[in-house]
This record gives sequence, C-alpha cells and structure tokens, in this order.
Amino acid sequence: MPSKDTLQQPFTLPCGVTIPNRIVKSAMSENNANRGGQPSDRLIRLYEHWGRGGAGILISGNVMMDRKARGEPRNVIIEDDTYHKELSEWAEEAQKNGSHLWMQINHPGRQAPKINKELVSASDVQLPMMKGMFSKPRPLKEEEIWKIIDGFGNTALAAKNAGWKGVQIHGAHGYLVSQFLSTRTNLRTDQWGGSLENRARFVLEIYRNIRKKVGKDFPLGIKINSADFQRGAFTEEESLEVIDMLSAEGMDMIEISGGTYEKAAMMGAKQKESTKKREAYFADFIIKARKRTSVPLLLTGGFRTLDAMSSAIENNELDFVGIARPFAVYPLLAKELLDGTRTEVHLPKTTTGIKKIDQMGFLDIAWYSEQMRRMGDGIEPNPKLSAWKLLFKYLRKTLF
Ligand SMILES: Cc1cc2nc3c(=O)[nH]c(=O)nc-3n(C[C@H](O)[C@H](O)[C@H](O)COP(=O)(O)O)c2cc1C
Repeated sequence: MPSKDTLQQPFTLPCGVTIPNRIVKSAMSENNANRGGQPSDRLIRLYEHWGRGGAGILISGNVMMDRKARGEPRNVIIEDDTYHKELSEWAEEAQKNGSHLWMQINHPGRQAPKINKELVSASDVQLPMMKGMFSKPRPLKEEEIWKIIDGFGNTALAAKNAGWKGVQIHGAHGYLVSQFLSTRTNLRTDQWGGSLENRARFVLEIYRNIRKKVGKDFPLGIKINSADFQRGAFTEEESLEVIDMLSAEGMDMIEISGGTYEKAAMMGAKQKESTKKREAYFADFIIKARKRTSVPLLLTGGFRTLDAMSSAIENNELDFVGIARPFAVYPLLAKELLDGTRTEVHLPKTTTGIKKIDQMGFLDIAWYSEQMRRMGDGIEPNPKLSAWKLLFKYLRKTLF
C-alpha cells in the first residue's frame, strides 16, 4: 500500500550528501529580482515561506549565469560573488528547517524576448513564435562557448560559497543547453554540432567545469528533456544516450521533464488524457531511463496525489518526486503530505473562459507567478485568484 512513509525516507546522493526526504520543489522562475538581477527581499521572504514547507530539496527558479543573456525581465543574475550577502541570506532562510536549497543555472540562448541586446545560440535558427518577439540569434563563436561553460562554473561556485547545498544545470525546455542538443537548432559543423557526441559536448563540458570548481562532494544535477516533442528535434533515444554520457561523468541527480516554449509538454500541454490520469507526464520515459542508469532520478510534471508519488518510488521507477505548480498554491505541501494531513492537491483551471486568450499561454505562468509574488509580500497564496483580475492587472502594468 503506497504511503507517506515512502516519501519520508532519506536518500544519499552519489556525492555523499543525504537528502532528508523524497519531495523536491522543482524550479519555478520567480521573476522577482531587483534591478541588475540582485536577489530581492521579496524573493528571500518567499523562500522563508517555502522553507517552512518540509521539501527535501527546494530548487530555485532559473538563475541567469550571464547578464547579457536574460530569459525574463526580472531574473536573478549571478556571475560571481557580487551578491554573496543576498545569496547567503536566501540560503539561510530557505534551509532553516532542514530543506536543501539548490540553484538552477540557465542561459536562455535564443529563447528570450527582446530584453537583451542580441540573442546567441548554437546556430542562427530563430524561435518561430509570436512574430518579432524573439529575434534571430547569432551563432556563438568557439571562444564564446568556452566563456559560457566557464560562466556556469562560476555561478555554481558563487552558490556554494554562499551556503547553497547544490546546483542544477537547466538542460531542458528549449534553452541554450537544449539548443545545442537538438538538430533543429544546432546546425553547426564544428566540434559542437553534427553527431550526438558533438552536440552533447556543451553540456558535458559545463558539467566538468562546475565539478572542477565545486568539488566531488557537492550535489550537482541536471534537468533534461525526455524529448522536445517536435519533428526533427531531440528524441527519446537521444535523450537516453545523453543520460548515459552524463551518468558516466558522475552526475548526482537527473530530473526528467520535456518540451520547449513551442511545445509546452512540461506543463501537460497536449498530453493524452490517459497520461494525465496517471499523473506523471513522463512516466513511460523514466522507466526506460531507469534501466540505463544508476544515477538518482527525479521526475517532474503532473504529480498530484500521495498515491501516485509513493507508488512510483515503491515500484522503483524513480527516487524523487518533483512538484512545481502545487507549491505555489500550497507552500507547506511537502510537510502536509509527509505528516498525513493531505493526500492530494487540486489546482484550479486558470481560464478567462475565452479560448483565444487562454491559448496565448502566458496566463498559466502569470497566475502561478502572482501566487509567488503574494508569498514574497508576506500574503498567503489565493487559490481563487481570478484570471480576469490578473489579466487586467497585467494590462494596466504594461499599457499605463
Ligand atoms: C510559473 C512557472 C515557472 C517555471 N519556471 C521554471 C524554471 O525556471 N525552470 C524549470 O526548469 N522549469 C520551470 N517551470 C516548470 C516546472 O519546473 C515544472 O516542470 C512544470 O510546472 C511541471 O510540473 P508541475 O506539474 O508539478 O507543475 C516553471 C513552471 C511554472 C508554472
């Protein structure tokens, strides 16, 4: 009988660090930094709130490793120890009650709106969405690629110096690491393109650079796509091969997700009803990955009941369950699942009732971002928050 006891079990990662339980709050971009990418008081208050919630690991929203390459307007940007004081305070608040705080490190590549001077990527393949919103990227030069690899390592070291307990490379959802992996966005003919071995060189070098700087005892994970779910893009078979390569390097945890801005599979878009019913969107894939690797696995996307979470672990399909959106509405969720006061969560459907508006895609993200903003302001989340109210607020802010 699946039970909360399963989720309560501590787990020791290959690097030797023990995580207190099996529940992970997956990354959700908070979009709440101060000007210049400085971590804000609001952000620290949000993590103080989550820190009371009992998750084994709290993974931060994606932190940018290069101020010239922001994914969203108010991302945290960490290139070095400039924000050591703020990062230390963030870690202290989040980890006060035993959760481990990990930093997710990202470079958006071509997948960023017009907030950067220019976009760079593996090749000059433009994101074909919302005409004009994403400009055509410039292919990176060899020396620039090495600089970015080194930058990932510097960001990881800054996190470690400030008392964070782990880092995660964002290798999923169509950002720069994904762009190098996919033949749709990587048309290079040098050592960074062509064969899978060449396309994976970028992420492997990032892994090696971070590992060199943080040492072998520090948790280092990656979030990777099971597939990009688009014709000609990164496939399941390729993902399994990259998982083999990452495993051979000594990765501590692999988080499985899927999709890109163009095909938002990570949020359950276009998933079959049967998949949604089984909750975890990438459940089939993780079973295949499990057969190939002994690296601890984390699965994110769709988990909503204690039953589904604990069964997946009891069936030895994975080691950690990743939960994102529910944490924005129920910040104490892990604690409640672990002490038996909650066995499932229901999330409201964010809808204006007008299909055209709902399908624009930003509403869901805006709704959950607003919940995080509330917590940062010291207010409880509001599960009844109206999509219309949010839309008006958003329009008022952008138009006036
Ligand atoms: C507001 C919001 C922001 C997100 N930001 C990130 C992010 O920064 N990095 C990331 O890897 N995933 C991000 N995600 C995706 C989640 O980590 C997760 O993969 C997805 O929401 C599915 O999990 P869930 O069904 O438990 O919500 C974000 C999701 C939401 C709703």
